[in-house]
Amino acid sequence: MTPDMTKTPTVTPFFDKRSNTISYVVREPDGPGCAVIDAVMDIDYAAGKLNFDGADAIIAHIEANKLRLDWIIETHVHADHLSGAPYIQEALGGKIGIGAKITEVQDTFGKVFNEGTEFQRDGSQFDALFEDNDTYSVGAMTCFAMHTPGHTPACMVHVMGDAAFVGDTLFMPDGGSARADFPGGDAGELYDSIMRVLALPDEMRLFICHDYGPGGRAIAWETTVAEEREKNIHIGGGKTREDFIKFRTERDAQLAMPSLIIPALQVNMRAGEIPRDTEGDMALKVPLGKL
Ligand SMILES: [Fe+2]
Repeated sequence: MTPDMTKTPTVTPFFDKRSNTISYVVREPDGPGCAVIDAVMDIDYAAGKLNFDGADAIIAHIEANKLRLDWIIETHVHADHLSGAPYIQEALGGKIGIGAKITEVQDTFGKVFNEGTEFQRDGSQFDALFEDNDTYSVGAMTCFAMHTPGHTPACMVHVMGDAAFVGDTLFMPDGGSARADFPGGDAGELYDSIMRVLALPDEMRLFICHDYGPGGRAIAWETTVAEEREKNIHIGGGKTREDFIKFRTERDAQLAMPSLIIPALQVNMRAGEIPRDTEGDMALKVPLGKL
């Protein structure tokens, strides 16, 4: 697919301090259509309490600007925060979409969490499953999804006019790239996916999903293809695919699991719905020794 660089959507970021996630509202250039990317539902895991302040801020922004929510997009099944997608959908409508390879993720983690047959592994919890190069509309703006596996099998980059939402394919240039050691992850595939993103037009705006402010700099979320190609600390400088795989594999071996991975996967593989126990109450499992 060729991006339409003549369309410049308005992108409003929402930063979640607890998980260092940046969610976005993307508004078509000449109309009320909008999409939400990677919304967060906060959890106080120690207290077993959910919090919707972040999602409420997104809803308030959409209502205040009289926008129409067409899509609620997950770039992938996140392991570090819970999705706020169904909460926002209940308030404003819109369709929840994710990459079609979600079925692989559901299969893997359905086993980890010993889910029964009531947990469907066919992606049917989502309203839409995107294949590589699938197009969809936000208002009058045609958008498309690029399959970019490596961090997870279902990762997609979403291109909307001159803006691309890269999920966890790339971080800011001084943050490098995301880990590739979760089940179904693959450092070589991640490298190939990053190369696909860097083949987009130089001036394409890239919006990333996480930032940790390396070296104490202020949180940042927007860069460009040219800037990533020139300055990303994990790519370029003559590094080969083999160099990247070696570096990524050694580094990933040092990383601890994200603190919310156990609740996040159970919720996010269900499109943000919270599982219930036999009494019908919201409840999560903590399997031991399975990750
Ligand atoms: Fe991620």
